[in-house]
Amino acid sequence: MTTEELRTDIAMVLDRARTRTSLLTEAVSDDELCAQHSPLMSPLVWDLAHIGNQEELWLVRDLGGREPVRKDIDELYDAFQHPRASRTQLPLLSPSEARGYVKSVRDKVLDVLDRTPLYGTPLSDHGFAFAMIAQHEQQHDETMLATHQLRRGSAALHAAPPPPKSAAVGGEAVVPAGPFEMGTSSDPWALDNERPAHRVHVDAFAIARAPVTNGEYIEFIGDGGYSRPALWSEAGWAHRKASDLTAPLFWRQDSAGVWWRRRFGLVEKVQFDEPVVHVSFHEAEAFARWAGKRLPTEAEWEKAARWDPATGRSRRYPWGDEAPSAERANLGQRHLQPAAVGAYPAGASPLGVHQLIGDVWEWTSTPFRGYPGFRYFPYAEYSEVFFGTDHRVLRGGSFGTDEVAVRGTFRNWDYPVRRQIFAGFRLARDAEQGENS
Ligand SMILES: [Fe+2]
Repeated sequence: MTTEELRTDIAMVLDRARTRTSLLTEAVSDDELCAQHSPLMSPLVWDLAHIGNQEELWLVRDLGGREPVRKDIDELYDAFQHPRASRTQLPLLSPSEARGYVKSVRDKVLDVLDRTPLYGTPLSDHGFAFAMIAQHEQQHDETMLATHQLRRGSAALHAAPPPPKSAAVGGEAVVPAGPFEMGTSSDPWALDNERPAHRVHVDAFAIARAPVTNGEYIEFIGDGGYSRPALWSEAGWAHRKASDLTAPLFWRQDSAGVWWRRRFGLVEKVQFDEPVVHVSFHEAEAFARWAGKRLPTEAEWEKAARWDPATGRSRRYPWGDEAPSAERANLGQRHLQPAAVGAYPAGASPLGVHQLIGDVWEWTSTPFRGYPGFRYFPYAEYSEVFFGTDHRVLRGGSFGTDEVAVRGTFRNWDYPVRRQIFAGFRLARDAEQGENS
């Protein structure tokens, strides 16, 4: 790729993020933009100006060396200064001020993009800082999509339904024991926590070819999954009781026993063949114990997604190194729900594991930590401050994740109790002696 092609590509990626941000923030009234739809979330108008503020800090001031646009608002939009639940109390920019602010920042950024060499410093190499900011905006867009899902009221977002099932997908794939390369040192837009590449030995394991579906989850509920403490960890059971969990978030059962869900302002019957979404790590873990299985470790998930048995090489995606497409994965808010299991045969891995990328984030059993040799870049607050045992790693992206913000190495993390994110899970188990795919 020439430098000019790279600049064009970056401009396109930035523009795609902004188109989505505009869609999400123009779909509701200004009053709704300023409202708190859930204590878990910021008002949408905070996300909007925060997107612009991060872009200003990194691209206008740091990379571009330009004068600040609005230095006076840095503190208001620093995510570490104010918890989400308190942000409606702040003297935030109004919706029209926020729109004007992000526009003036973006105009300067496009000028910086034209004039900055895309090599020579770690921040500028291959346009890293621009890509980091595009990923940041898309991550906030996914968060804003979750706010839309929490919002009460009639539908404000619309999208075509996902493609139907076109392949029968079931059972498990066995991944043989051996080392593979986990993480990356060469992907120019990978974020700090995906680095560096390192060899990891993984014992033989079996992993489900598909995520757990709503139909399977309903069996778990029907078999007393939410009333049997033995299926839950101690922390999980305590949380289940305290929060009175009885089903995935947004579900309810009518008097005839039929399960319904609320999805972006619509109430509809739960679709049995779709991956379950809006379950916590604790619920995923209880389901796995009920099924006689377990959640995959993060290394198992990544080996299933990237390891090519023909060459032993780790690839960027399950299907190879080529970018995602509408045929390979349900990404980018193209649809407003996960697709049925079997809808993306073109996205399967060589061992026949489907829908690892897109549809639903998948909980793994692994706490979020730095890889051996981790160094934060460019700031510790992106991921290092979250390392430890409080968060579990999620992998693979959801229907609400843009392709710039997910790949086989991409790591997401959250608290084990969180359910408003677009997260489901798939099952794994140790392979038996001599078992082969
Ligand atoms: Fe942020």
